[in-house]
Amino acid sequence: MPVDRERSVVFGSVAAEYDSARPGYPDRLVADVLAYAPPGPVLEVGAGTGKATVSFAALLATTGADLTCVEPDPRMAAVLTAKCPDVRVEIGIFEQYVPDRRFALLYSAQAWHWVDPDRRWDLAHAALAPSGAVAVFWNQYVVTDPALRAELAAVDRRYQITTSSLHRSTEVRARQADHELTGDPRWTDLEERHYEHTGRYDAGRYLDLVRSISAYQVLDAGVREALLDEIAALIGDGVDMTFTTDLALGRRAD
Ligand SMILES: C[S@@+](CC[C@H](N)C(=O)[O-])C[C@H]1O[C@@H](n2cnc3c(N)ncnc32)[C@H](O)[C@@H]1O
Repeated sequence: MPVDRERSVVFGSVAAEYDSARPGYPDRLVADVLAYAPPGPVLEVGAGTGKATVSFAALLATTGADLTCVEPDPRMAAVLTAKCPDVRVEIGIFEQYVPDRRFALLYSAQAWHWVDPDRRWDLAHAALAPSGAVAVFWNQYVVTDPALRAELAAVDRRYQITTSSLHRSTEVRARQADHELTGDPRWTDLEERHYEHTGRYDAGRYLDLVRSISAYQVLDAGVREALLDEIAALIGDGVDMTFTTDLALGRRAD
């Protein structure tokens, strides 16, 4: 499926809400990815406001390895730079990025699906040194209570939000990434891992989470506010959430 370019760059208009509302990534995942990869420079694709970058930068600082981030939206990048001043940030899409070195690890958090599916693995392969690793991961977050989730999904359907609704379970994108690499002789040691945790979102943070999702952002402002009012009425003072981070790993075979 081609990438929806218009939707791929809407995040910057809500950069602050995005940064405070979106969940981060488990420390275990960050440690596992760095243990899987050989030592050396690291590249992050679609770093956004740095939700993954902060954790990777903290661990990499203990090894002295440098981190470069590619991010097309200057508003997202401004938040990233404020949080991670020592990280090199290249403004632009990955498809147009020309690496000045070969990386030991390329990772992408919640962003790989925005990169051209016909070119992304070729570009990743070219950016990596021999034996270099690729790690792509996505958070799935669902309201834990199935009855409340069904009510919220019904609201979304009335507003024609279906495939990217926050209130339906989404495909495991890491599995898709794994499948895309299976059978490609340029990659080896393919693995898929899953990390689950739970947490509570108060009403304000939950509504910001909805605002940070592209399917809701592209609605007209008035329509979006009406939808948010309906969600607010259903969730009361907050919701319990279940988070799963799905990770796909691979390594250059040559
Ligand atoms: C859902 S956000 C994820 C941001 C961050 N990695 C995180 O985990 O919160 C997707 C990010 O990918 C960026 N993006 C969209 N298209 C891209 C492309 N072709 N190359 C690199 N980044 C892209 C967007 O600007 C946005 O910051």
